[in-house]
Amino acid sequence: MTTNNTTAAVGFAEKNQARFVEELKALLRIPSVSTLPEHVGDVRRAAEFVAAELKRIGMENVRLIETSTDEEMIADAAGQTRVVPPRLGHPLVYADWLHAEGKPTVLCYGHYDVQPPDPLEEWKTPPFEPTERDGNIYARGAVDDKGQMWMHVKALESLMTAGGGKLPVNVRVIVEGEEEVGGEGIAAFVREHGEKLKADVALVSDTEMFAPELPTLCVGLRGMIYTEIEARGARTDLHSGMYGGAAPNPFVALAQVIAKLKDEDGKILIPGFYDKVEKPTDAELKAWKALPFDEEHYRETEVGSIALTGEPGYSVLERTWARPTLDVHGMPGGFTGAGAKTVIPAKAVAKVSMRLVPDMTPAESFMQYKAYVESICPKGIEVEVRLIHAGDAIVVSTDNEYVRAATAAMHEVFGKETVFVRGGGSIPIVGDFERELKIPTVMMGFGLPDDNLHAPNEKFHLANFHRGIESIVRFFARLGA
Ligand code: BES
Ligand code: MN
Ligand code: MN
Repeated sequence: MTTNNTTAAVGFAEKNQARFVEELKALLRIPSVSTLPEHVGDVRRAAEFVAAELKRIGMENVRLIETSTDEEMIADAAGQTRVVPPRLGHPLVYADWLHAEGKPTVLCYGHYDVQPPDPLEEWKTPPFEPTERDGNIYARGAVDDKGQMWMHVKALESLMTAGGGKLPVNVRVIVEGEEEVGGEGIAAFVREHGEKLKADVALVSDTEMFAPELPTLCVGLRGMIYTEIEARGARTDLHSGMYGGAAPNPFVALAQVIAKLKDEDGKILIPGFYDKVEKPTDAELKAWKALPFDEEHYRETEVGSIALTGEPGYSVLERTWARPTLDVHGMPGGFTGAGAKTVIPAKAVAKVSMRLVPDMTPAESFMQYKAYVESICPKGIEVEVRLIHAGDAIVVSTDNEYVRAATAAMHEVFGKETVFVRGGGSIPIVGDFERELKIPTVMMGFGLPDDNLHAPNEKFHLANFHRGIESIVRFFARLGA
């Protein structure tokens, strides 16, 4: 890749900024909510949209890879046969361009699925009608992850055009539609067909910058286990006056169970839960202390609560990046309509997730949790503890040529040294890239702390969309030099 080509690619991206944004808006109009069955067609339409553009810009072998599986009979460890139900999965989008002989291969990863948009009434403009305001584009998926995935596509288009149909490096693209629901389909594909994604490094743009104007690489993510506890009491719903006092109430039982999962200091009470927790290195802790972080500003503007909670003795960054945690997301069941209904529900559910850190494992953490919940189940109640999805925590290495190319590229764009941070969120496939494909990952993200991921009024700062494209262009150019 010549310097001339790089300049031409950056120039192309700059000239086409308005078109890039219009295309992103078209993608954002597709409500590809992966967790809601009624959107299965929309999710597929988003996959087809991404595939069509990859094809148009000159990528090869573009295709959708189905992730659905048929019903299957398997023999478990005890030799018992068991039926595994069929799985309705969302497709992967694959593309490659592999003609840069002798140059490294980059695996570009992103996801085209999004979180549900509710509560709808909190949105200033509708979630699937992308709207520009104050230099931002507002829509569900704007930053997580359609906008950031689109930066990859547009960087590739810019390089392809400047290079007369050639890229400076070999590229494989894999975009999934199930990240927000655990990423089971891509994990199976990586496990079973890892050779089809053979690459030297993965590039993931699905994380945030630590502060505006501050180029950031994310070098660690928390893992997670997402669970449901179902509590059953009476055979059927009961009149709470006739039976109240004698019949067990599954909501009260769940409240009692939940109250025993975590104490007032944020310490998780599951026996053995912290046994495998690794402390961040002294160098990491020192670097985190040097980051521009104002706890009061964070409380006021990002969280917006009257106080922060969590484990004493750990900074907010340690608590959100390097400590496990446990949260309750909702308790479906019973009566939730307007007004009053005097009923003792027969069953209640709590959706509970735990974020994990190295070297905890989802399997062991789930077993500890399940055994503990069963052991504290109140009288008269039967509980079933189910695992919905799981993903590993990961810390990636920073001592490699790819990280150096990324920081140099971002220096050219932002004029600043890159900071290394961890993220409290999870991207389950990143661990599999390291373990199954045995390649490092560069997590170069351009979201901002106030982008409202998963929340109403999600946005992407358009300047960061364009700087992201330029950073990725320069990153590829350096790897190909
Ligand atoms: N992009 C996020 C993860 C993220 C956000 C990492 C900010 C670092 C900083 C991703 O789309 C996400 O939300 N993941 C889910 C994964 C889960 C459903 C398995 C999460 O973290 O809740
Ligand atoms: Mn994401
Ligand atoms: Mn997300």
